Amino acid sequence: MLVRVLSDIHGNLAALKAVLEDPAGAKADNTICLGDIVGYGSHPVECINIIRKECDEVVAGNHDQGAAGLIGISHFNPDGQTAIEWTRTQLDQQCVDWIKSLPLHTFYYGMSLSHASVKDPSSWIYILNTPTAVDAVLAAGEYLSIYGHTHIPMQWNRLGDCSGKSAGLFSDSSLINCGSVGQPRDGDPSAAYMLLNTEERTFRHIRVEYDVLAAATAIKEAGLPENLAKRLYLGK
Ligand SMILES: [Fe+2]
Repeated sequence: MLVRVLSDIHGNLAALKAVLEDPAGAKADNTICLGDIVGYGSHPVECINIIRKECDEVVAGNHDQGAAGLIGISHFNPDGQTAIEWTRTQLDQQCVDWIKSLPLHTFYYGMSLSHASVKDPSSWIYILNTPTAVDAVLAAGEYLSIYGHTHIPMQWNRLGDCSGKSAGLFSDSSLINCGSVGQPRDGDPSAAYMLLNTEERTFRHIRVEYDVLAAATAIKEAGLPENLAKRLYLGK
């Protein structure tokens, strides 16, 4: 089975559309989302509607929970707080109820899915070093753990060694971050997603050029912080 893995869309409709139109991903049997559908970007409702339609499994991210009022805005930086408060004004009750129905962690065809570390998904731990990676490996047990939250595509083995490989084999007891569709932070502004082949046990990180100007302009026109538009050009 070929699985298309999306995460951290952050209301960036132009990026989400570009990823879903990418020919490599169009061959996928299933699509899953690892959270942060909203926050930062200017099209939260449109992105929610697309994810609800396209995805077979979805877990919630911290920005989703913030927008639905499940966690307070003190969890976010100042620009993030402004964006969460704005996003709350955009979501109708149906969107809020759907976000509230999303789990923080689930299993999918022998894989562990979470937005942040599977070690304690509600603590929103960033996996960015060996100790946090090892904690997540131990928590996932024999499962491959796929996650988002850091917006940086990377993989870790069971010893907590990090690899920047963009494709290869995966093993059980390893971690893979699929990167961010709508707000990459690895210095590459193109939209990121991942393909997993569960039979061949391979992963492939994919980058897709999209209309960054359209996304940045929409953020400014919505009255959201200008820095949220600027960083899209930098991939930071
Ligand atoms: Fe995020």
